[in-house]
Order: sequence, then C-alpha cells, then structure tokens
Amino acid sequence: MSRLTRPDLDALPAYVPGRTIPGSIKLASNEVPYGPLPGVLEAITEAAAGVHRYPDMGVVALRDALAERLGVAPERIATGCGSVALAEHLFRATCLPGDEAVYSWRSFEAYPIIAATSGATSVKVPNTAEHGHDLPAMAAAVTGKTRIIMVCNPNNPTGTALRKPELDAFLDAVPEDVLVVLDEAYREFVTDPSVPDGLVTYGDRPNVVVLRTLSKAWGLAGLRIGYLVASPEVAAAVRKVVTPFSASLLAQAAALAALRASDEMSRRAALVINERERVLTAVRKIFPEVPESQANFVWLPLGDRSAAFAEACERGGVIVRPFQGDGVRVTIGTPEENDAFLSTLD
Ligand SMILES: Cc1ncc(COP(=O)(O)O)c(C=O)c1O
Repeated sequence: MSRLTRPDLDALPAYVPGRTIPGSIKLASNEVPYGPLPGVLEAITEAAAGVHRYPDMGVVALRDALAERLGVAPERIATGCGSVALAEHLFRATCLPGDEAVYSWRSFEAYPIIAATSGATSVKVPNTAEHGHDLPAMAAAVTGKTRIIMVCNPNNPTGTALRKPELDAFLDAVPEDVLVVLDEAYREFVTDPSVPDGLVTYGDRPNVVVLRTLSKAWGLAGLRIGYLVASPEVAAAVRKVVTPFSASLLAQAAALAALRASDEMSRRAALVINERERVLTAVRKIFPEVPESQANFVWLPLGDRSAAFAEACERGGVIVRPFQGDGVRVTIGTPEENDAFLSTLD
C-alpha cells in the first residue's frame, strides 16, 4: 500500500498521557487535586452563552491581565492551547529542517515529538547522575545549527531544579542568536530561593523565553491555556504561527477568573508543597536515592523496575507514571491520596 503519511513518524514515540481508571487515585499527570479555583466555574458558565462566536484572537484581556501581574508589556506575551502548544510554536518559529534543538534527557516527553515533527534534529544531553540538567554539557552541545534550547526548570519528570549561578554561566555561554526556552510549568511550586524566577532574573535577555502554564497550580489543565513571555519580536513571531483561535472562549474567561484568585492558588500550592516534603521524607526511607523536588511530583529512579513498580501501585488503586528504564514519577495529591500511595509502598 502506498504511504499517505511521513515515514519518519514510524520511529516517533507517541505522547503517553497519565492513565485514568475509574475508582483509582490518579497521581500520574501532575494536576493539582483541589478543583477549579473560586470564580472559574461561574466565568465558564457565563462565557458559555457566547460559544457560537469566535473568541478574541488577540487574547487581549488575558494578555493585559498577565502583563499587569508579571510587570511586562502585553506585546511580550503570547498565549497558546496549553504551554505544550507554545513549545510547538516556538520550534515552528525558530527551526527549519536540519536545524538542531538541544535539551536534557530525560525531560518533558513532548520535546522529542515536537522537535521531530518540526523537522529539527534533537540533540539530547544526558541528565547528570543527580537527575538534573548538565548545563555545561548542554552549552558544549551547541553548534552552528542550534536554533533552540529547552531548559526545563524544575525538570519534568525528575523535579530537580537549576540554581542561579549555573544558569547565569549557561546563558552567558549560549550565543545570542540561539533561543533559550525556560520551561517553568511548575514555577509556582518552587520554594528554594536560589532557583531563579526566569522572568525576573533573565527577562531582559532578548534570547530568553519564559514558558508557563495555567494547567498545574492554576487548575485549568482541562481547558488548555498557557503563555510565554519573550522579547516583543519573538512574541510577535509566535503569535504569527499560533493556530488561529486556539485559546478558546472558555479558556480565556476561565484564565482571567483564575488569575483573580491568585491568593487561593498560592494557598493550594502551599498545601501541595507541604505534602511534597512529607511524601519525600517517607519515600526516602525506602528509596534514599530519591532527589529533592521543586515541583508537584517526586521522582523514584527505579530503572528497569519502573514498570513493575507502577503495576504494583495500580493493583493498590494508585496510578503513577512509569518511564521504563529510568524511573517513576508520582504526582502529589491530597493528603489522603498521598497516604494511599505511601501505603502501597509498604
Ligand atoms: C515541563 C512541562 N512543560 C509543559 C507542559 C505542558 O503543559 P500544558 O500544555 O498543559 O500547559 C508540561 C505538562 O506536563 C510540562 O510538564
């Protein structure tokens, strides 16, 4: 049979979402378990009356609200159908076939898929023995063909975070014509003051983009909305390549309402952080090699035992996320959910 699709897709891994099994506790997708923030359901309900109309393609009200919150000009902001879509758009805006994209591995599983579909060549730099990015090796991997570098801070799925001195040195080493994307999907869970806020610390560098999402701490995973802050030129290029109207009417309304509930977002993030520390302490009694986490999940580097461990958890009614050969990522849930996970460890 003749081919209708690209042959190179055969070699591409499919994105594996966290599994959902009715009746089981899902600690597999890094969601926050406390429901939508106050005001969000009302905003969605009100906006629903207008869904026969297209949303605002310029996403003006939301970009203005984000700009005010972040203290930047709205021209520097682009929104997308989740931050994963913005990562795609950034590749589309920077890479031509044959260009290179550098990122640490293992990191967010969408990066290799996005790189391959954009025609870019992935240059994967192995994580350090401590499960974090090897920034000197990443800087050394840059060639004349490198157009984009993904830096996931904190890193999904290992939870490890990069500190200011190492990031300073890295950004100084990267050529000015290579875009560095600081993927800060889990920024709201960072407690270590030496882990810099990419926007505050590096926002004035024209080749730095800060990627954030409303899916995690802000509780809007199901509505799909994320944003980036970049130089006005890069943000404008991204807005050019964004799928038209991909920030839906409901997502825009919900995001505006969520941003108005930022105190409650912080309160919930603090609950998650407390639980993260409790779970880490308990898990380390059995697996001392579990690294510190600055995100809303913990990483068990179980190597070839990962799939078997996840299956055992599933039999105990808890779904976690295995990456066979590397480890298992366990999202922090409510105290009761975390207790259920900890009891499967026994
Ligand atoms: C590091 C990282 N970046 C981006 C995303 C994408 O999130 P979303 O598309 O829901 O904004 C995720 C989701 O898991 C992630 O872990």
